[in-house]
Amino acid sequence: MKGRKYMKYAPIISKFPHFLHGGDYNPDQWLKHPKAIDEDFRLMDLSGCNTFSLGIFAWMLEPLEEGKFNFDWLDKIMDRLAKKGYNAILATPSGARPAWMAMKYPEVRRVKRDGQREPYHDRHNHCWTSPVYREKVNIINTKLAERYKNHPALGAWHISNEYNGECMCDLCLKSWYGWLEKKYKTLDNLNERWWTYFWSHNYTAWNQIDPHDGCVDALKLDWSRFITWQCCDFMKHEIAPLKKLTPNAPVTTNMMGFFNGLDYWRVAEVCDVIADDAYPSWYKPDDNSGMGSYLSMVHDMHRSFKGGKPFMLMESCPSATNWQQYTRLKRPGVHKREMLQTIAHGADGTMYFQYRKGMGSCEKFHGAVVDHVGHENTRVFKEVAEIGKIHRKLDDVIGTSTAAEVALVFDWDSRWALDFSQGPTNANKKYVETCQSFYRPFWNSGVSIDVIESISSFDKYKVLVLPMLFMIKKGVAEKLTKFVSNGGTVIASYLTGIVDENDRCFTGGWPGCGLRKLFGIWNEEIDGITPDDKQQVVAIKGNSLGIKGKFKAYDYCEQIHLEGAKALAVYGKDFYAGKPAVTVNKFGKGKVYYVAARTSDDFLKDLSTAVISEMKVKRILSEDLPSGVTAQMRTDGKREFVFVFNFRSKKQKIDLGKDKFKDMLTGKTVEGRLKLEADGSAVLERL
Ligand code: GLA
Ligand code: ZN
Repeated sequence: MKGRKYMKYAPIISKFPHFLHGGDYNPDQWLKHPKAIDEDFRLMDLSGCNTFSLGIFAWMLEPLEEGKFNFDWLDKIMDRLAKKGYNAILATPSGARPAWMAMKYPEVRRVKRDGQREPYHDRHNHCWTSPVYREKVNIINTKLAERYKNHPALGAWHISNEYNGECMCDLCLKSWYGWLEKKYKTLDNLNERWWTYFWSHNYTAWNQIDPHDGCVDALKLDWSRFITWQCCDFMKHEIAPLKKLTPNAPVTTNMMGFFNGLDYWRVAEVCDVIADDAYPSWYKPDDNSGMGSYLSMVHDMHRSFKGGKPFMLMESCPSATNWQQYTRLKRPGVHKREMLQTIAHGADGTMYFQYRKGMGSCEKFHGAVVDHVGHENTRVFKEVAEIGKIHRKLDDVIGTSTAAEVALVFDWDSRWALDFSQGPTNANKKYVETCQSFYRPFWNSGVSIDVIESISSFDKYKVLVLPMLFMIKKGVAEKLTKFVSNGGTVIASYLTGIVDENDRCFTGGWPGCGLRKLFGIWNEEIDGITPDDKQQVVAIKGNSLGIKGKFKAYDYCEQIHLEGAKALAVYGKDFYAGKPAVTVNKFGKGKVYYVAARTSDDFLKDLSTAVISEMKVKRILSEDLPSGVTAQMRTDGKREFVFVFNFRSKKQKIDLGKDKFKDMLTGKTVEGRLKLEADGSAVLERL
């Protein structure tokens, strides 16, 4: 373990060392309402907004004719932004397209799983392979880059919008066969790795490999990997002309949290800057800490995508999000907390969808900075303006990161492989929820965590958390062994080490791939229990972590044997009462904790708290935090900016221990106890 690494990064838009604040701005919808656009510019100053995503779905086709482009309106907007010293995050329009294009060139429309070509509708539904669409995108992206390459407002590129979905047209299928051939070289190799002798599925030609086929698990997994590859390939195609003409403008695309459809680790590699869209639902009247810790984990991953480099929140909603089940307004304090929470985890920009609310179409009720009423005297506008003021007080935070000693591993491949398998047990696989359950106690202890993938470097961490690391990829077992030998602690859960990267089960006993020795256990069977089974995990008296009591167990109860590890807890009921349920294995200078059953959160809290003190993991505040509260920190190794959040709708007090702080929002010195309002937040610099 090399220990904590500190960094100070450059601002996202290098010439603009402030928080990016603003959002999706669609003056292209308002060209017949020039007064509204004038108002937009007046309101920009009042709202403290400085950065706008422009042209996200705008093909500059007015009149709507192939080969004709009208950039006049965009020129004017760009000039007006530049005059004010504001930034444009200029978008490529590929997320949607005009009807004439979809009609004239049917191949740009996707083919669904049922083999039907989609009619022209909505957005985010273009074929990623279509040479025609690629050509059209290349033309417009080149024109945009040529026109604005020296424009002072150009800050960054926003590539397309929320890439997602799949296409099963002949062009895509051909690309799939080619991708498989490149990956596996021979069908014999593919057949062996995919275990296709099952049900006589061994293929004798590449074009027999039909992505609809549901019985070959490895096929489903590779189809998801192919979709990710295709998306990245399309992105690279979009980016090429931009990089050529504007090599210094960073490119990004807006991700969607833990979106299942793409392996964001791979998408992140194509971006210069990471951007996320987050629409948390603060539905609970009393306690939103579940959503709070979930959102923190999302942000921690987006910061970790580029090894700690600050990311940006591209979209969030300043008020009610119209597509959600309930459009519950943000209660006082909630918007401020949500934005500061994003910053606390490493964002150097918090932006909105959308700047001005449109008059019609399906997002007419979606929250915005400027509401239909059109002026600044609204509750939401004032809350946004307050964020603008807060940003200005936090300029020193820009470019700082976190220095996590704990990392949690989140792999799309494990998630997909687990989801695509029938069993072990099907009712409650819950990959993301399991990651969240293991994350949350660290969050509530005020410990910084990175969310990494299994092929990331483990060097800088003291503790690694592996929730359901179902798939062990090449080199990962060796890396884990090295990590533990050198003194690291691993906390692994049930369903770790089950399949290889082709989704074939490891033979020779789980956890496979050499982990059986590292973990000191053999996992013989998995009991997929029902809600009627009442199982428990019972701490063994005097166990090395000092955990006491009985805890509920659900869903997965693995039957493990000790092969060098010691039991810390045993099962309480049924035919395996008294058998090990939680173990620890000393290996080299380190340890592996194995949690063989899905337990209630209180057990994970006790386990994590004990490991935090055993490994002397740095807590951001020395004293225990009340429930529903977290502390997060950004630092460059010299200055420490501590963010505290209360996710309960009641006042709470935080014990600051012996340290003194400066409240960065009020300028006052704080020590002893800090009062947090209901849904309150604070930013403190440690003195
Ligand atoms: C997504 C899209 C936006 C908008 C918002 C509404 O994040 O990227 O274009 O539709 O949802 O919440
Ligand atoms: Zn296609």
